[in-house]
Amino acid sequence: MLSEKEKLDSLAALGIELNQINDLDLLMERILFKARNFVNADAGSVYIKEEDNLLFTYTQNDTLQMRLQKGEKLIYSTFSIPIDETSIAGYVAATGKVLNLPDVYKINPTKPYQFRGKIDEASQYTTKSVLTVPLKTQQKNILGVLQIINAKDDEKHVVAFSKHDEKIMFHFASVASVAIERAQMTRAILLRMIRMAEMRDPKETGAHVNRVGGYAVEIYEQWARRHNIPKKVSDEERDVLRMAAMLHDAGKVGISDVILKKPGKLDSDEYDTMKQHTVLGAQLFLDRQSKFDDAAMIVALNHHERWDGNGYPGHIDITTGAPIKKHVRPDGTPAGKKGEETPVFGRIVALADVYDALSSVRTYKKAWDESRVLSFIEKEAGAQFDPEMVEIFFSSLNMLRSIKERYRE
Ligand code: C2E
Ligand code: SIN
Ligand code: SIN
Ligand code: FE
Ligand code: FE
Repeated sequence: MLSEKEKLDSLAALGIELNQINDLDLLMERILFKARNFVNADAGSVYIKEEDNLLFTYTQNDTLQMRLQKGEKLIYSTFSIPIDETSIAGYVAATGKVLNLPDVYKINPTKPYQFRGKIDEASQYTTKSVLTVPLKTQQKNILGVLQIINAKDDEKHVVAFSKHDEKIMFHFASVASVAIERAQMTRAILLRMIRMAEMRDPKETGAHVNRVGGYAVEIYEQWARRHNIPKKVSDEERDVLRMAAMLHDAGKVGISDVILKKPGKLDSDEYDTMKQHTVLGAQLFLDRQSKFDDAAMIVALNHHERWDGNGYPGHIDITTGAPIKKHVRPDGTPAGKKGEETPVFGRIVALADVYDALSSVRTYKKAWDESRVLSFIEKEAGAQFDPEMVEIFFSSLNMLRSIKERYRE
């Protein structure tokens, strides 16, 4: 447990730390982890406001986590509840008040809100003490709700949250809200850019890019764990990878409509033109002002390379698109990058993109059923795809499926 002194120091540094995180999902993970740590809570959830509802967006639970294998992640389904006074989280969002309940199964029946035990039922977990605080901006807009569950004393017994915990969490939530609002704005701008591209290329939908971003982060996390990448480094990488992966096809805005929207197969000249979307995309981020630009450049350039070296655009000079001298094939075309010559982010997004493209309809193809997609990916391990990424793909399949559920068309 943290001492009071440590809590105060930690609270003071919180704003600075949270404001370095750009990715909304990573931010929620960090906020919840910190919040639980402050008040020594076993579990917690974040709800984010979407129109008149609260979307159950993210959760952590030490007890349930302990029932899993090392490295395995808690899979949860998202649901939404109305913002009204009938649920605990809804009440807090509707009124903007903090609610500190010592036992949610003993709520006075005269109260408007009741605990519905949705999560307990689904997971064989017993929720008891619950502290729920609003996530409010400076302008008093409700962004969502932070819910901390089952405070524990030194002997790990579940106890009620104290008055002091309430105060700390209220302050904590106001700092967290500033960071959430900023990350939401970043993601909204990004999705608006993608929607602009969508007007030209209707098959690259917001859902598609969200899924590819989600798959990529999931695969990267497992890869980083296997390679003992320090947590500080992998968190920084995860922070930029989702957005970079979402922009993998940004260069398609430079491809003519005739080719982009062709209902049938591309001929070989058209396909050659289409291949330029990798280089065009990379050129968009060539300034490399930030870690994000770097990652976006790497992903755009490398997401169509193949493990066996038969992908594109291969070893080229990004500014001119010309082949690099020592890597030309006999016919003068650039040699493809082979194996680990392709950066990790490229190898990951290559798999994430094709998994999603095959599973979806395109103007030129039907959606494949899952078994066909899986046997294709298995077959291409070591040919199209990095065999290690394929291994990780199959070991994370349940998580990938839950991401697919979350971002349905
Ligand atoms: P995309 O539709 O997002 O597809 C991404 C990648 O998924 C493709 O990269 C390919 O590796 C894989 N993929 C998609 N559909 C199939 C399929 O039916 N079979 C197999 N084996 N793999 C598939 P690729 O081929 O480099 O294509 C890049 C982009 O070029 C595609 O992005 C799409 O926008 C366009 N494209 C490719 N082929 C055609 C085509 O025949 N007609 C049209 N209209 N566009 C095409
Ligand atoms: C709530 O905060 O009321 C939602 C949680 C539940 O009832 O299971
Ligand atoms: C896409 O992946 O097609 C959209 C990316 C963008 O241009 O912002
Ligand atoms: Fe592409
Ligand atoms: Fe794509």
